[in-house]
Amino acid sequence: MLGIVILAAGQGTRMRSEVPKVLHPLCGRPMVFYALDAVRGLSDLPPILVVGHGAEEVRRAVGEAVTYAEQREQRGTGHAVLQARPALEGQVDEVLILYADMPLLTPETLRRVVDARRSARAVLSILTVVAEDPRGFGRVVRRADGSVARIVEEADATEAERAIRELNAGVYACDAAWLWAHLPLLPLSCKGEYYLTDLVEMAAGEGQPVVAVAADDPTEALGINTRVHLAEAEALIRRRINRRWMEAGVTMIDPQTTYIELTVTIGPDTVIWPNTILRGRTVVGTGCQIGPNTLIEDSVIGDRCRVVASVVEGAVMEEGSDVGPFSHLRPGAHLGPGAHVGNFGEVKNAHLGPGAKMGHFSYVGDAEVGAGANIGAGTVTCNFDGHRKHRTEIGEEAFIGSGTMLVAPVRVGRRAVVGAGSVVTHDIPDDTVAYGVPARERRTTKDIPEPQRTRRAQRT
Ligand code: UD1
Ligand code: CA
Repeated sequence: MLGIVILAAGQGTRMRSEVPKVLHPLCGRPMVFYALDAVRGLSDLPPILVVGHGAEEVRRAVGEAVTYAEQREQRGTGHAVLQARPALEGQVDEVLILYADMPLLTPETLRRVVDARRSARAVLSILTVVAEDPRGFGRVVRRADGSVARIVEEADATEAERAIRELNAGVYACDAAWLWAHLPLLPLSCKGEYYLTDLVEMAAGEGQPVVAVAADDPTEALGINTRVHLAEAEALIRRRINRRWMEAGVTMIDPQTTYIELTVTIGPDTVIWPNTILRGRTVVGTGCQIGPNTLIEDSVIGDRCRVVASVVEGAVMEEGSDVGPFSHLRPGAHLGPGAHVGNFGEVKNAHLGPGAKMGHFSYVGDAEVGAGANIGAGTVTCNFDGHRKHRTEIGEEAFIGSGTMLVAPVRVGRRAVVGAGSVVTHDIPDDTVAYGVPARERRTTKDIPEPQRTRRAQRT
């Protein structure tokens, strides 16, 4: 049985952050989850997550999917693995160790490191990478015969050793009995830490071959120690995500400026224009046009919708509805099929029925707008009286003239017509025409000349 140990106890000093390093998000998901995703399926046992710095926060974020081991003092990566021993000793015959700050590792690569040790019957295998920029990684020192002799940390390396470009990526597969026997023997480094990497020299010193597995793609070994590394990893993960969606049938006009979090899903034949950010639990349907210059968060966008230069958060847009440019759907906004929000509109906690329209400069909040209603330019639902929020109801096919103030709580009836510039302070019955300040019913809609009514029914 394979035991898996993921180290996440370090302080992450070089991040200069209050947040534990492994909780910094990458494409919307905290870093530690990438390591957890990468090991999924490698073993039937849950991985052991070694926590220490910010342990409580890490536990809260990760939850119950792992077994925790606590490293109270951060005395090095070797000391960290020792904390996982009680949970694993006697349970497993091999152990895979990785760091939680390496979000680009793939399951295939981890599998290769495990398999390489097994097939060589070695006590230890490690993942290495050859890269021009050593990024502070430990260097793999080899003997004249080419065998691996040891790993030297950059801080302890000689000039000649620093020139080595074969680097320790930080993934280890070990024979469990050998590991438990040797971990307590790790020497104290000059930094005052017990380095896991010194296991390599111990094995080699005993004449045990150490298998080095080279990573196919050097970017997989990217470890995150600083905010610069964080941005580099973000860019690489973003590329992976974008590639996946393009392969699934999504068009991206400019993948370089398309930012899609890991949690988002997108239907085929949707086109994403530049400078578009899709975040959180957002679901985008098929055949949509999204962007340019658009932010969508935690929202559900149906098929064939269009969102241009707008911000959509916590909203639902049903099939064929559209928004923008320059509009804002806030939490609880719900556009029915074919509903239209044009420019400079804001909708919050409000439902626009099928085909309802608000074309220009309007605020609709805490409202129910019936199917086919037309909301004229500059209409405002005055939903807040300074203490409480109140609801507005606009009936089906109602016509709200430009510049109308709807002082909630208030209801405008079905097919009612409200004249431009009205201040509506009391309910307007169905099929009536009202206008003025405050708005009064003047006549019924039957008095409106027929051509005008028909035009309205076709929704101008
Ligand atoms: C480590 C390796 C280095 C390798 C590099 C690859 C050692 C000594 N060095 O260096 O050879 O090239 O990773 O990315 O292992 N941690 C603990 N407890 C501790 C110290 C660290 O849990 O006491 C955890 C950290 O949270 C982190 C991981 O171990 O997730 C690695 O520690 P870090 O300090 O980032 O090591 P590097 O200097 O990057
Ligand atoms: Ca690191």
